Amino acid sequence: MVIFGASGDLTGRRLVPALFSLYQGNLLPDQYVILGLGRTSLTDDEFRHRMLENIRQFGRKNSVPQKKLQQFATHLRYQQLDSKNTDSYRILKSRLKKIDRQKEAIDNYLFYLATPPQLFAPIAAHLGAQGLQQPSSDSGWRRIIVEKPFGRDHASATELNVQLTAVFAESQIYRIDHYLGKETVQNILAFRFANGIFEPLWNRNYIHHVEITAAEQIGVEDRSGYYDSAGALRDMVQNHLLEIVATIAMEPPVLFEPNAVRNEKVKIMQALAPVQIENVIRGQYIASMIRGENVAGYRQEKDIHPDSQTETFVAMKFQIDNWRWGGVPFYIRTGKRLPTRVTEVVIHFRETPHHLFKYVSGGTTAENQLILRIQPDEGILLKFGMKVPGAGYTIKNVGMDFHYSDLANSELPEAYERLLLDALNGDSTLFARADGVEAAWRFIDPILQAWASDRSIKLYGYPAGSWGPKEASLLFEQSGEDWRYPCSNLTGDDSYCEL
Ligand SMILES: NC(=O)c1ccc[n+]([C@@H]2O[C@H](COP(=O)([O-])OP(=O)(O)OC[C@H]3O[C@@H](n4cnc5c(N)ncnc54)[C@H](OP(=O)(O)O)[C@@H]3O)[C@@H](O)[C@H]2O)c1
Repeated sequence: MVIFGASGDLTGRRLVPALFSLYQGNLLPDQYVILGLGRTSLTDDEFRHRMLENIRQFGRKNSVPQKKLQQFATHLRYQQLDSKNTDSYRILKSRLKKIDRQKEAIDNYLFYLATPPQLFAPIAAHLGAQGLQQPSSDSGWRRIIVEKPFGRDHASATELNVQLTAVFAESQIYRIDHYLGKETVQNILAFRFANGIFEPLWNRNYIHHVEITAAEQIGVEDRSGYYDSAGALRDMVQNHLLEIVATIAMEPPVLFEPNAVRNEKVKIMQALAPVQIENVIRGQYIASMIRGENVAGYRQEKDIHPDSQTETFVAMKFQIDNWRWGGVPFYIRTGKRLPTRVTEVVIHFRETPHHLFKYVSGGTTAENQLILRIQPDEGILLKFGMKVPGAGYTIKNVGMDFHYSDLANSELPEAYERLLLDALNGDSTLFARADGVEAAWRFIDPILQAWASDRSIKLYGYPAGSWGPKEASLLFEQSGEDWRYPCSNLTGDDSYCEL
């Protein structure tokens, strides 16, 4: 495995700890080398030392025997390389050949692009120029994992696809969206397609609307440079949220195989109806006090332009134009500095056509909701109405819940563990395909263009620690409808999450 950007944050915090977990689980091959590349000058030993520190700090919190760490470290190597310098790739090629000759790893190369995105295409072109995209034997393989962001609009994503596919075949390219590596996102597929009881209800006849929230409690932290030029729409909606929408809305694939699954997801991306700009609310957090502490507004954060127009919150309503979903609104929202960290899907089922207990139960009707909690307190909650014991027919909403934490050995693998293992095994089911990425950008582009050109479209301020601009609630069509305001625990009360 050859990691470009091995001296960076992603490699240290995510990739190497994930690789070590795979190693601990005996999931890596017998012979392998992890070769890190970066401009920083490091010896093999310095790189090993850094990576072992990262594993201790960011790896799974179970106790790690020193011997295991040392054994894993023997597989780590480092080479200084400037991605823009042709000579560096010649040196890389001869080092890989040497590793092959010493039979430490044999002709199977997984390249990982963990560099700034403007280097993705040049690195692929340099690898192609050295012939490194072609295995030298029939049994070998070459694959390339590309980090996000994949383009910043439809044109740049399409151009990047053209540049990558000029060197690598589509089947060799693995575009990572770490949300798809989450156990709970994969479980949406199992929940829908391994059970017979939900699928008959999974359509416009029984579902009133669908709501998806991905809330972050943190602010922009140390990602200001990237974030201020991206914003929530590019950073979260174009990739993670639309992938979740596709997973919720797709038709059952004929086979559980990469292209069959991704064909169905692409059809959803293509069926997204152009969004009306008044159905998109954008916001930016402003200074506030959270739990007695002053919290800076976005524009006061380090390295953020004091007049920045970048959105840290987006909420929108849209439709999917197909037979299953025609007329069912989808509501999605994401933001930074919201009251809690939570990602969940809420399926709101239709009410009964006739409210039998309306007059005897004081007007209470049951709310049928299915909540698929992606993080934290991963699990599933089904809400329905029940008779309150005693006289009369008072209906009360109750919940039936499943928490992953109730399972024995419930520690969920990190998303990067699953995705790295799949890429090593040549399974691209959980990676985005070129046409899917382009279709997602086609949906997002008009919003970006409207925001860039129409100064009358408001960027609402919202206090850090709140659920975003109140205008997001006005997206709902009927009075009394609103977002669910979830707490960090799945079954927490629906009322506003206390700070
Ligand atoms: N960090 C995350 O949690 C995260 C999450 C999702 C996606 N990503 C994506 O992953 C990629 C890496 O992110 P990061 O946070 O790790 O960034 P980072 O900490 O800034 O690291 C960037 C890496 O790229 C290397 N690099 C930069 N210019 C180079 C050049 N000309 N030649 C060779 N190497 C070069 C740097 O090496 P030197 O400093 O040694 O030159 C460093 O190792 C980005 O595309 C980012 O969007 C990161």
